[in-house]
Amino acid sequence: MQQLQQAIIERGSVLSDEVLKVDQFLNHQIDTNLMINIGKEFVNRFQDCKITKVLTIESSGIAPSFMAANELGVPLVFARKKKSLTVADHVYSSGVYSYTKQEMNNITVSKSYLSSDDHVLIIDDFLARGNAALGLIDVVKEAGATAAGVGIVIEKSFQDGRMKLEEEGFRVESLARIQSLEGSKVTFLEELATK
Ligand code: G4P
Repeated sequence: MQQLQQAIIERGSVLSDEVLKVDQFLNHQIDTNLMINIGKEFVNRFQDCKITKVLTIESSGIAPSFMAANELGVPLVFARKKKSLTVADHVYSSGVYSYTKQEMNNITVSKSYLSSDDHVLIIDDFLARGNAALGLIDVVKEAGATAAGVGIVIEKSFQDGRMKLEEEGFRVESLARIQSLEGSKVTFLEELATK
């Protein structure tokens, strides 16, 4: 997706060989026009899947997921990382370890918002080692629902997240695939012709 690759190059910054900072448009300040187009692109890629719900994890997954869910005309559900005051016992849950942040999160989704009839599109901002996506898949399985696929805004293809998800039989669609961040330079797996 060209607009996204351009945003990464022009407004992102490489913090290390493993970490890309994109809080100018995705993780802190949000470029709403870019999010609208990201939502449309996810819908293009998953339009054959009869999605009934979009599922993500707070917080940075919410903006791109919102746009995709709105385009699809289905609800967006986000998994919580912290216990909610009002959602107590009736939850699906899974443990998600964040390597980047070196912390364990117990993610939860209320049983009211996922059921066995649902065809769920999982969306997240980053795919690194796949832990967040696998945790969301656990939650979908616990609900007896179907995980129709995984949509990712930025995939770090030099880490093994995609491989793990594909090994489990899940379809992964990433809008930007980064081959390397070495030498403070972003190299995409699929370079798009610049207009
Ligand atoms: P994984 O889920 O694919 O295994 O990835 P990992 O544990 O490495 O990532 C955990 C958190 O770090 C996630 O955010 C993920 O979006 C973020 N992250 C991973 N790699 C990068 C990167 O290169 N740049 C940036 N900016 N973020 C990265 P999170 O804990 O869910 O945080 P948030 O959604 O509340 O921001």
